[in-house]
Amino acid sequence: MNSDPSRDTSGGEWWRDAVVYNIYPRSWRDTNGDGHGDLSGVVERLDHLAWLGVDAIWLNPIMPSPNRDWGYDIADYTAVHPDLGTLADLDLLVEAAGQRRIRLVLDLVPSHTSDEHPWFRAARSDRGSPFREYYVWRTPGTDGAPPNNWLGYFGQPAWTLDERTGEYYLHTFLPQQPKLNWWSSRVAEEFERILRFWFDRGISGMRIDALQTLVHDRTLRPNPAAGDRDTPLERRLGQRFLRSGAQPETHGFIRGWRRIADSYTPPRLLFGETWVPSVDDLAPYYGDGSDELGLAWNLPFLGCDFTARSLRAVVERTVAALPPSAWPAWAMSTHDGEGRAATRWCHGDPAAARCALLLLLTLRGTPILYYGDEIGMTDAVDTPGSGRRDTAETAAPRDRSRTPMQWAPGPGAGFTSSPRPWLPVPGADAPTVVEQRAAPGSVLSFCRDLITIRRRHHELVSGAMRFVPAPEGVLAWERGDGDFLAVVNLGPAPAVVTRDTADGEVLIGTDRHRDHQTLTDQVSLAPYEGLLIRLTRRPAADSDRSRESGRAS
Ligand code: GLC
Ligand code: CA
Repeated sequence: MNSDPSRDTSGGEWWRDAVVYNIYPRSWRDTNGDGHGDLSGVVERLDHLAWLGVDAIWLNPIMPSPNRDWGYDIADYTAVHPDLGTLADLDLLVEAAGQRRIRLVLDLVPSHTSDEHPWFRAARSDRGSPFREYYVWRTPGTDGAPPNNWLGYFGQPAWTLDERTGEYYLHTFLPQQPKLNWWSSRVAEEFERILRFWFDRGISGMRIDALQTLVHDRTLRPNPAAGDRDTPLERRLGQRFLRSGAQPETHGFIRGWRRIADSYTPPRLLFGETWVPSVDDLAPYYGDGSDELGLAWNLPFLGCDFTARSLRAVVERTVAALPPSAWPAWAMSTHDGEGRAATRWCHGDPAAARCALLLLLTLRGTPILYYGDEIGMTDAVDTPGSGRRDTAETAAPRDRSRTPMQWAPGPGAGFTSSPRPWLPVPGADAPTVVEQRAAPGSVLSFCRDLITIRRRHHELVSGAMRFVPAPEGVLAWERGDGDFLAVVNLGPAPAVVTRDTADGEVLIGTDRHRDHQTLTDQVSLAPYEGLLIRLTRRPAADSDRSRESGRAS
């Protein structure tokens, strides 16, 4: 886990130093009272992000879409959804964010389009259409059966018969999300054009959706049965998505995009959604560490239990699996079925939420905050029946982690003036930004102060990292050359970490009464308590070694 000091990130791979903040734009801030968040709302609340100290915003899809999958079914790749605003609003956002030194990353969906995209409309109008090759078509078998056994991520067969032209088309998600055919060079050319369109407009990078589904097996070989090492979804569906995606040709496309991204100054970020069962499957998406993705989504980390043992195992495995020059990304909450860490990991306990933030913001890699993580926002209790917005059949309802940002107490939660927000705002006892800004011990104050400390000490960003021994239930890791120590007690009982060789000063504690405490050899921790400590005395053996190496050089 060594840092690579030769790597200067200042003008180059800016995302290595960044705190990224993910906004679900429809739920952030509604400025025109229609109950849907919009781009002007992102502009309006930029000062919250500047105050918090984030460096980049990743917006979930903002392009025109019939919203069968809430923007992940795109009908026009170079425009803005009218509910959210216009291209001019986006330009304003890029500029206003830039003034605050905040970069903007968009969400690109290259695996599939909406069935209302003009390409698909043309393709399905006639077998002879020049756009037919943009999608994947097969004639039914003699018994009318679909071409193979492939299932989609929402559990249904991946093939739908197009009555008009009498052929099946492939879709990895909803039938309204026809799969693009990456075996067609015309599709690849379209996306190079789309990438340049946004990068030329000042967009700093792309989160790339469902990258593992990009290229399917051209000969349509069947998917095998799922095994123990597959994702929970594959195990639930009984099928490993071995041939319906994940073909090696994917990497050639990523390398091509990377060349485009690197041709800009500063280089543009490619942040892939790599939805894979293990970090060993993740590593190849980084290529040699500099020629494919800049960041890759770490699903195993997200799926991990909130215990010292599980977290340590996944983090160590990640560091071991990635190419040495690659840079990990850490996220704990999503707009998808995994939901929010404050619920999944912390069961709504603010002390645990502060521990989760301490972890996320001091691991070596880029932290990805999901909107609301900074206040310990929890998943909504499910909204069944008429209130439901997400039509996809997922194991866990996805609406619950997409509810409006909780700005202030009262009706509309500072999100909207509409009596009918697109998803319900939370009840009266939910945490809000306004209340937590005024409370020094809050999750928000902790998050903000920790980001400030992170910015002040570069070792906490790019320094080496190593786990150090700790009692059962406690996770302890050093950053820099033994300069900083982070400890969190995720167990049910108080714990004492013994450090017989180093004193320290608490830079920040999840219980703020401990800030600035001087520590000697014993660090005691209540359950769900964490500390970030600046070490002031080195282990004797280490300082002997450094004296020796000092003499030798
Ligand atoms: C990704 C998105 C998810 C979407 C799917 C299909 O997994 O995160 O929300 O439904 O891709 O585009
Ligand atoms: Ca609106």
